Amino acid sequence: MLIPGFARLLAQEQPPIQAALERAVARLPAPVREVAGYALLTGGKRLRPLLTLTAARLFGCERADLYDLAAAPEMIHVASLLHDDVLDAADTRRGRRAAHQVFGVIPCLLAGDALLAEASHRVARFGDPELVLCVSDAMLRTVAGEAHEIARQGSLSHGLDEYLSIIEGKTGWLLRASCRLGALFAGAGPRDVDALSSYGLNLGMAFQIVDDALDFADEAETGKPTGGDLREGKLTPPLLFHMNALPDAERSRFAEAFAHGRFSPAEVADISRRIRDRGFDRAARDMADASLDKAAACLEGLPDRPERDILRQALSFVRDRRA
Ligand code: IPE
Ligand code: IPE
Ligand code: MG
Ligand code: MG
Repeated sequence: MLIPGFARLLAQEQPPIQAALERAVARLPAPVREVAGYALLTGGKRLRPLLTLTAARLFGCERADLYDLAAAPEMIHVASLLHDDVLDAADTRRGRRAAHQVFGVIPCLLAGDALLAEASHRVARFGDPELVLCVSDAMLRTVAGEAHEIARQGSLSHGLDEYLSIIEGKTGWLLRASCRLGALFAGAGPRDVDALSSYGLNLGMAFQIVDDALDFADEAETGKPTGGDLREGKLTPPLLFHMNALPDAERSRFAEAFAHGRFSPAEVADISRRIRDRGFDRAARDMADASLDKAAACLEGLPDRPERDILRQALSFVRDRRA
């Protein structure tokens, strides 16, 4: 169930976040503006900017330019989605055609690059090297996570530890940076900055674990193709559970198709349905609890202000989300 406080805040903050993103698009080189606008200005939960805003407000920061800072992690996120949908050959995103389907691959790669550059520039303009390090670390780790995942594409031999290391990079570090940016910007002390960073990293891990369970949900709910990880040979927890439950003969056929990306659309639909019917997606979702508990523990020593409750509610939002 969506926690009303968190959902209300997300809704309430959409217009000023949107305005900051529009200002960012206007600064991009003209040839990439349309593609970047298509990806950045429509849809999306805006979880990352909301985390930056909430982290800063937890320490009493109400600066008007906070929205311009909070736009940066969303721009990095959307750049990674533009590139990710090319890497994953994904046709839909946020309930509509993925940008590379509309504009082609090359314009999307360039628009992603421009968004990354503008995000770095906008953070650097605040004049604090800690902020710059925070986002550049996140970008490097995101790339490393994506590259690690691609290196394991089609592999069924690596285990959950390696899966966790991949998702820490590709998703955890940007949520970490979203929180850390806000805390640094607000002038929080080093211990609080580190606590919020660790909260964000663990929230991000949980977010991706849930996302990988949602990969088998209906496209109408998630706005993303059903069974994409299966099609693309990405070994996620629901697929590991599915494979382990197969009889030997079926397992070798599965391994062969997984390794070479040879599932037909009907097989992808059938395996996705079987994963849901057997509750492997729910079992995978439960794996997020360990990261959510760690994230909750990080909040303990932080200021007892309403923003801390919002960050607590974000844990339930991530655990229970359907899209
Ligand atoms: C999708 O992130 C990519 C992942 C890290 C799983 P979101 O689910 O936050 O995407 P939007 O911004 O709401 O579309
Ligand atoms: C999300 O990767 C992480 C990044 C984009 C860096 P996924 O490939 O798992 O996410 P979706 O399912 O496409 O949103
Ligand atoms: Mg993807
Ligand atoms: Mg991917």
